[in-house]
Amino acid sequence: MSEQLNKFSRTLTQEVTNPAAKAMLYGVGLTQEDMQKAQIGIASTGYEGNTCNMHLNGLSVHVKKGIQENGMVGLIFHTIGVSDGMTNGNAGMSYSLPSRDLIADSIENVVGAQWYDGVIAVVGCDKNMPGAMMALARLNRPGMLVYGGTIRTGEYKGQKLDIISAFEALGKKFAGTISDEDYEGVIQNAIPGAGACGGMYTANTMASSMEAMGLTLPNSSTYPATHEGKKAECIAIGAAMKQLLEKNICPRDIMTRKAFENALTVVMALGGSTNAVLHYLAIARAAEVEFTLKDIQDISDRTPLIADLKPSGKYYMEDVLAIGGVPAIMKYLLQKGLLHGDCLTVTGKTIAENLADVPELSFDSQKIIFPIETPLKPTGHLQILYGNLATGGAVAKITGKEGERFEGIAKVCEREEEVIEFISKGEVKAGHVLVIRNEGPKGGPGMPEMLKPTSAVMGAGLGDKIAMITDGRFSGGTHGFVVGHVTPEAYLGGNIALVQDGDKITIDAVNNVLQLHVSDEELAERRKLWKQPEPPFTRGTLGKYIRNVKSASEGCVTDEA
Ligand code: FES
Repeated sequence: MSEQLNKFSRTLTQEVTNPAAKAMLYGVGLTQEDMQKAQIGIASTGYEGNTCNMHLNGLSVHVKKGIQENGMVGLIFHTIGVSDGMTNGNAGMSYSLPSRDLIADSIENVVGAQWYDGVIAVVGCDKNMPGAMMALARLNRPGMLVYGGTIRTGEYKGQKLDIISAFEALGKKFAGTISDEDYEGVIQNAIPGAGACGGMYTANTMASSMEAMGLTLPNSSTYPATHEGKKAECIAIGAAMKQLLEKNICPRDIMTRKAFENALTVVMALGGSTNAVLHYLAIARAAEVEFTLKDIQDISDRTPLIADLKPSGKYYMEDVLAIGGVPAIMKYLLQKGLLHGDCLTVTGKTIAENLADVPELSFDSQKIIFPIETPLKPTGHLQILYGNLATGGAVAKITGKEGERFEGIAKVCEREEEVIEFISKGEVKAGHVLVIRNEGPKGGPGMPEMLKPTSAVMGAGLGDKIAMITDGRFSGGTHGFVVGHVTPEAYLGGNIALVQDGDKITIDAVNNVLQLHVSDEELAERRKLWKQPEPPFTRGTLGKYIRNVKSASEGCVTDEA
């Protein structure tokens, strides 16, 4: 193998000054022949305790096989992950977004320390994909990602189920519209096995958009976790990785500004998660690409929502396989001039070249993807709002089903837990804007997702009657009139901290405004009485996070001064 392919690992295997490193490599089973080969770090986010990740160590073994078969050394290492479906309220959920940056840090750390020539990240749950993409961008050594795949749907009494069904069952329980037996039936059958949450929630949003960005092999986001194609993809990575090394194609050659535009175009077209905004701002910063909230709004303005996928639509990610997968959708978007076809991908070819032989999407035989000319919504569902409640920006998810303007009366919840309490006491009424605060990057910390509140609101039949705004986040599974990422956050004294019960609030996704109808003078009076809360943590990983994290409008990155 030429010098170029092992240009990092040769420091350990070829330089006489590193006998200890070489001895250790013999100790892990490498041979004399292996010492000439490129070394590829395989970062698995696998762990047993989460269905999104439970199979990833197994997939990593297939990746390793493909690497070895192509004349390289594959060495599996592990990084952390947490389950967004199990983090449950602030106490757990505060760790979720920080886990993204820990994943980025740990991959960067191991690949840097161990002198790997390339890296493959095997990823599943929400924070895995952005964390690994950030690491690839920082390291800029040849690399790619493999998505663990979407979960299959569960079933109970003839109804298809997924993770959101479990949360919504709780809302029905509060409303008294589900029996104890059926409640238990839904919980026991919602999740049939391995795979990431099955709608166009955050994991599938990030997976399909990273494929559009060119960082995975085609169809990585389409194959369900249990599909045979997933194993074949893992093995095929070996040949692709070898080519990346031979041509010295590095992540930043792929992660260009146009590639970010492609990623966000797919997010908009498919009705993806608000979390994509946060993550792609952070990934762009890691790749040192200029990409801002304004760019995301511009993409939203020119991209129709065409996918009838959950959470706001009918279909699941597993259904996308039958209509030709994400490549078929990308080909359609390319034909309609919405994607840049000249962006390089990990196949060594451009997007247009990858899609050349992909069969065309048929509009006669499927109802998941709508024609651009008759979309579900003519522009993107993700809107960046500004106003005196969000001078630094906020992100709204408006699919059009809920209308595009909401004017209501504030009902203030100091924490997520109060929403559940107020709903269970019947205190949340039609016309309310639930203001859920102290959930920001520092104040949460970690911008907990309002998954339980939104599902409980839906389950209680209030989904189309109220709105919610927060300085935290909303899960990719959220639907309804919701605005998150309110910046500046309450902990830093943003005006969201000054809202009182009964204040009038306007959310206007046509003019992109989030306005609190309270005069500047009154806000100044209220501010005199406001005191910054004590930091929720001062030590440990969350204490460190609070000190380092930037605002949501800056992607909540933690590695910038
Ligand atoms: Fe992992 Fe939803 S909990 S993707």
